[in-house]
Amino acid sequence: MLRRIALLCGFVVALPALAAAVDGTAPTPNIFAPVSTPAVLIREVAFFVLAITAVIFVIVAGFSVYTIVRYRRRPTDGPSEPPQIYGSDRIELAWTVVPFLIVVVLFLVTARYIWGIERRPQPPDAVEVTIVGNQWWWEIRYPKLGVVTANELHVPVSDPAQPTPTFITLESVDVIHSFWVPQLAGKMDVIPNKVNHVWIQPTRPGTYVGQCAEYCGIQHGLMLLVVVVHPKDEFERWVAAQRTPARDDAAARRGRDLFASLACINCHTIRGTPANGVFGPDLTHLMSRWTIGAGAARNTRENLHTWVEDPATLKLGALMPAMKVSREELEALTSYLVTLQ
Ligand code: CUA
Repeated sequence: MLRRIALLCGFVVALPALAAAVDGTAPTPNIFAPVSTPAVLIREVAFFVLAITAVIFVIVAGFSVYTIVRYRRRPTDGPSEPPQIYGSDRIELAWTVVPFLIVVVLFLVTARYIWGIERRPQPPDAVEVTIVGNQWWWEIRYPKLGVVTANELHVPVSDPAQPTPTFITLESVDVIHSFWVPQLAGKMDVIPNKVNHVWIQPTRPGTYVGQCAEYCGIQHGLMLLVVVVHPKDEFERWVAAQRTPARDDAAARRGRDLFASLACINCHTIRGTPANGVFGPDLTHLMSRWTIGAGAARNTRENLHTWVEDPATLKLGALMPAMKVSREELEALTSYLVTLQ
């Protein structure tokens, strides 16, 4: 029960905030507004189940209301109960066989859809992504493209005439998480020591929001995910920009040297510098991301300053410790981080 409440709170409170932070509008994490093939199929089967259950509801509720009204107690009724009838083979057979057949139909249709989604072969020009669940953020790797980022997945739009779906491999380094972007695909658990797969084929450029959908600890509610679907050429430009090493800004040298001399480099990678840790998010192009802490706060200079000083201010329980640096060092570090475009 607590798990459900926590999940619901995460979704209800954090998602609209993230959506607004991302691009000022509020994309709805709505399974009834799909923009990607698996999500469209899921809506189809959802409507089918809804239609059958709606008919059952109308029949049962209709009979109940009719019976209550028709056979209500009247002033002319005598003191004794009406005759009681026990057992009717025909009625019992009917209410056993009909529901059984309905369940068989629901099972077969659902199984066919699940099979159709999960057994989709990967076409040769699909984009390959590995997403790794961490407490409480997502690492996003493009093994073939040489890109590593966090919390914001970028993919190309898929032209129905020449589909370029994205096939995602899901792994976890700690506990069970669940990958869910309602407008793009169904939920898929992200399990330690087990590799799962999911694919998306978005047909409309835009920004879509998702959320870890399996309770995974204190900051489960702040383990958000953004998917940006680009037109093809824009996606290629994004990849090219992400592949470049970090900018070396002479004005931020002090911060860069400080970063390299502190424990920062044990956990973070900044390509082109000695920092090659893999415990925390890759920061090479930190400022290309909208939020820090997987949706905890907007990625601004002010929030980065607060984060480096003590991440718990923005995200209680975050595994990054307070850096315990002086005011001057904090300023220098922040000035360096904001150059990582
Ligand atoms: Cu990760 Cu919930």
